[in-house]
Amino acid sequence: MGDNSSPSRFWMVVAFFFISASLALVGFIIYVKVFEKPISRSIREAEVLNRYPLMFRTPEEQAIFEKQFYAENSAFNLETAEIATDTQLQNCSFSCPSRRRRSLATYHPLVEWINHYKGLHEMKKRDVTTQPGPNIYHGCCISRHYFVSPDFGSTISGTNYSLVQFDSRRQYFPSQICKHAENCRGCGCAQEINFFTAIVVNPNYPNDSYDPYTMVAIKLPGCCKCFNNLPAP
Ligand SMILES: *[C@@H]1O[C@H](CO)[C@@H](O)[C@H](O)[C@H]1NC(C)=O
Ligand SMILES: *[C@@H]1O[C@H](CO)[C@@H](O)[C@H](O)[C@H]1NC(C)=O
Ligand SMILES: *[C@@H]1O[C@H](CO)[C@@H](O)[C@H](O)[C@H]1NC(C)=O
Repeated sequence: MGDNSSPSRFWMVVAFFFISASLALVGFIIYVKVFEKPISRSIREAEVLNRYPLMFRTPEEQAIFEKQFYAENSAFNLETAEIATDTQLQNCSFSCPSRRRRSLATYHPLVEWINHYKGLHEMKKRDVTTQPGPNIYHGCCISRHYFVSPDFGSTISGTNYSLVQFDSRRQYFPSQICKHAENCRGCGCAQEINFFTAIVVNPNYPNDSYDPYTMVAIKLPGCCKCFNNLPAP
């Protein structure tokens, strides 16, 4: 009897292990199928964040960035543009009502109304004599788009970084030439500061980082605007 039960117990044990292994495998496959999506999504997010760190911000980081952006572009921080001396740019005949005339308007509601009407009327007459070409005439400003490809760039905190530039391909950023039209006193032209994402040489490589390159937001002159609260040059 002992001789007969031994092989059958052996096969029972084999069958038990086979069935357990099958059940475990099925369980594992179900587990993977059910939890696959969230796992791969978080891996994908981590990978993208790792590759393009500066392109994503948390709402808190965005709030800090916006604060810095607004501080940089406050009229107190901007420099009034130079007067255009190029003969090509001197044909700008734009004129705004002077501020003094506007402040006189506070004497009487009727005077105010008349001056307001005159102001509107004058505003309609605002015009510039433009020549066909790349120059954009707006208010007292004359601007033109162009692209810069600098070798160095400063961040908001003033750190100077070396931009990664290759012989065959470079990093380009849009900017504007900004000039103030001659004899125009309506407003002050200035260039806003813009932040651009740039690939720079990682100063922490190789001691504190494995990556020879990194991304930072560099400050560059942006768009040319006519600011009411900036003095005309
Ligand atoms: C300025 O405008 C006048 C008249 O529109 C034109 O004859 C002259 O060539 C312009 N000057 C320049 C430098 O474009
Ligand atoms: C950044 O560093 C380079 C090289 O040392 C220098 O030529 C450049 O003037 C610096 N830029 C600023 C804004 O400090
Ligand atoms: C990296 O470490 C070495 C040795 O400690 C040091 O000589 C070198 O200046 C460091 N480089 C940088 C970029 O900090």
